[in-house]
Amino acid sequence: MKIHHWLLMLFLAIGAVVVFAHEKTGWIAPAEAKKMKNPIKATKVSIQKGKEIYEMKCALCHGNTGDGKGPASAGLDPKPTNFKESHGEKMTDGEHFWKITQGRGAMPSYEKNLTAEERWHVINYINRFSKHE
Ligand code: HEC
Repeated sequence: MKIHHWLLMLFLAIGAVVVFAHEKTGWIAPAEAKKMKNPIKATKVSIQKGKEIYEMKCALCHGNTGDGKGPASAGLDPKPTNFKESHGEKMTDGEHFWKITQGRGAMPSYEKNLTAEERWHVINYINRFSKHE
């Protein structure tokens, strides 16, 4: 293939990513994913592990307090999800797990960067943001 063909393909690929990132329709997990149960109890130990992972890998975008306003969130559209505002009540742990595994647009896929266990710990931690005690 000639060099300009490669360039054309590159531009098409970038275009697709841009369109994808701007897609604002709801991000919906499949029904089976929603039903998936969290195998790890939200014990103090699990929440603490989740907190460490969150602060290292997620807070940059989702914010230390879970408000979606981390330092890297400014240029993003759609914005990183705000985990406060009863977020945990609206979405099941299974949905969280599926989305963290898949990723979408600016939201990275953590299928390879976190073990399944680590993903469940981080979900136990995220759930704390929307609980008011
Ligand atoms: C580079 C920025 C960035 C990082 C880092 C990041 N996220 Fe996200 N996250 C996003 C964005 C942007 C969205 C919204 C994506 C969309 O709707 O298309 C999102 C969406 C989500 C959602 C879906 C929420 C919903 O209601 O649909 C979950 C769950 C989530 N992130 C968890 C995490 C976790 C856990 C981590 C760390 C392990 C993390 N994110 C790291 C940017 C990020």
